[in-house]
Amino acid sequence: MTIIAPSILSADFLNLKSEIEKFNELDDIWLHLDIMDGHFVPNLTFGHTVLKKLHTVTKHKLDAHFMVERPENYIQPFKELNIHNFTFHWEAATHHDRLIAELKEHFPSVGVSLNPSTNIGVIPEYLLEKLDLILVMTVNPGFGGQSFIGGCMDKIEALNKLKKQKGYKYQIQVDGGVNDSNCHSLINIGADNLVAGSYIFGDKDKDYTKRVNSLR
Ligand code: DX5
Ligand code: ZN
Repeated sequence: MTIIAPSILSADFLNLKSEIEKFNELDDIWLHLDIMDGHFVPNLTFGHTVLKKLHTVTKHKLDAHFMVERPENYIQPFKELNIHNFTFHWEAATHHDRLIAELKEHFPSVGVSLNPSTNIGVIPEYLLEKLDLILVMTVNPGFGGQSFIGGCMDKIEALNKLKKQKGYKYQIQVDGGVNDSNCHSLINIGADNLVAGSYIFGDKDKDYTKRVNSLR
């Protein structure tokens, strides 16, 4: 089943616990955490002090998407938080190989994210085979509620083709502007994991189950 990853960036922060508990009856959900530092992206969100107890109110895997410079600085503060997947931006790192090796010591799943203008060819094959996830950004990172960039679809198709040809294990995650009008095409071309913020949390009746199901 396609994993749906609600991005809590669009949740009601004054009621975060009850917002998150709304997903507890569902399966194949990851909770997507957008960590922004105000440098790699022009926005600032939340860090480990805010997220520390999140794992106590959910059964779902925590998926941390670091839109930060120097992602290596976040390993220590986040390694005690029960984070399942740690994704860093390829563009924000210098020593990718060393960083991936270090992350693998502390997190069950390690992902790399690519901005819309970054081609998949930047990741060498010897690193592709080590990755658990590749996040294809379909908006320029930094904000929820932006429009989907259709030009990124080719990248998803190419990653899926490469995965099949070479037997790579990485999940293909898509993040940015995902909704019920593009989800079926995304799944058809190989997306395994769909992040959605404003589409899910924007439901006026707060029926998040309905929104998650409509994405599948
Ligand atoms: C954007 C974030 C996304 C964001 C998605 O930089 O990485 O995870 O929350 O929000 P929507 O689904 O509203 O585009
Ligand atoms: Zn994200």
